[in-house]
Amino acid sequence: MTNIAILGFGVVGGGVADVILKNNDTIARKTGEHIHIKYILDLREFPDHPLGDRVVHDIGVILSDPEVTVVAEMMGGAHPAYDYSRAALEAGKHVVTSNKEVVATFGAELQEIAAAHHVRYLFEASVGGGIPIIRPMSSCLAANQLFEVDGILNGTTNYILTQMIRAGKSFEDALSEAQKKGYAERNPKADIEGIDACRKICILSALAFGKSFSPDDIHTEGITKITAEDVAAAEMYGGVIKLIGRAGLSNTEDPESDVFMLVAPHVILHDNPLSSVDDVFNSILVRGNAVGDVMFYGRGAGNLPTASAVVADIIEILSHKETDVFVPAWTKASADALFCIEALPYAFLVRMEAGDYMAAAAAIRAAYPDAEILTAADDFKGTIAFVTPLTTEKALRDAFPTPLLSVIRVMP
Ligand code: HSE
Repeated sequence: MTNIAILGFGVVGGGVADVILKNNDTIARKTGEHIHIKYILDLREFPDHPLGDRVVHDIGVILSDPEVTVVAEMMGGAHPAYDYSRAALEAGKHVVTSNKEVVATFGAELQEIAAAHHVRYLFEASVGGGIPIIRPMSSCLAANQLFEVDGILNGTTNYILTQMIRAGKSFEDALSEAQKKGYAERNPKADIEGIDACRKICILSALAFGKSFSPDDIHTEGITKITAEDVAAAEMYGGVIKLIGRAGLSNTEDPESDVFMLVAPHVILHDNPLSSVDDVFNSILVRGNAVGDVMFYGRGAGNLPTASAVVADIIEILSHKETDVFVPAWTKASADALFCIEALPYAFLVRMEAGDYMAAAAAIRAAYPDAEILTAADDFKGTIAFVTPLTTEKALRDAFPTPLLSVIRVMP
């Protein structure tokens, strides 16, 4: 029997307890032993829960108990989650987590501490909820030089955009529906402003390219400025708007080249499989030089899908008890090794105000002779939408120095 401690008995922590209680015999059949939840650390009491007697309020109880070999951290937030994880690793306990903020910000350091103490720091649940993505990328695709990772990484924003696309809802109405359904987190800011997706693409990028960047240094746009008019313009162009986390090598042939990384709304053309990933689902496309393109799809949020990934990490630890040499998956890099996003080639969907259709069309053609003007002269009502050929954001802004209504990247 393996004794574990759960840190944080919220939605995911409760889900982990549920999965273990429900599937313990199945787990034992696969690993040879049952999991015993010895402690649950939380500020609250849970007198009516079957595991209510395991609740403690002092991390010291867990750290000083040699019987606890695995700590599952599902507290959320950077502190004290980072501090407790670090202390558990230093006490020689394995740590598994769903906490993308801690993994994205402190992942390199915590993996080094884990390696030094011959224990593991695993985080399958930190990206894509229940979708297996971390271990497939680090094990099954290990033979490849990966050169790009693109994903719909946030279920809440994908739900909101799906409602805007399918039901013609405004951003505000779609957000309040997402909140009513319990999809949006307590503070929706991290979802709708792209912060949650940024942490996730930072983790995937670190795994793919072996170096991690601070989420604070990543170009991050959310979906708060997306309007029904943008959605309609994307549809005219033959696509849908999705919030995409994108990271890649600036030179696909050179693994040492600078990494580009951003989170931003993108127009995804209908022939790209990411265009049909709707509602709260997530999907991740990984490109490797041997395997080609691989796509992962599933439920990116929710208590049981996320718990499924957390418990899988515990099972991974139980299944490899004999191993005690671990190599961190990435090291920290400085922002100097990031490719400048303003110089990254993209086509852009642009909407701008115009007094006169013919004059605006002439200005667009003067800047970009190959631009595709989406708004027909007959439908002109003071705004004009067009798509540029491949250019850079800097060149676009130089060509149209007056404020534009919207500038949305088109996924290559
Ligand atoms: N708020 C996140 C989402 C939860 O909507 O995807 C999972 O990380």
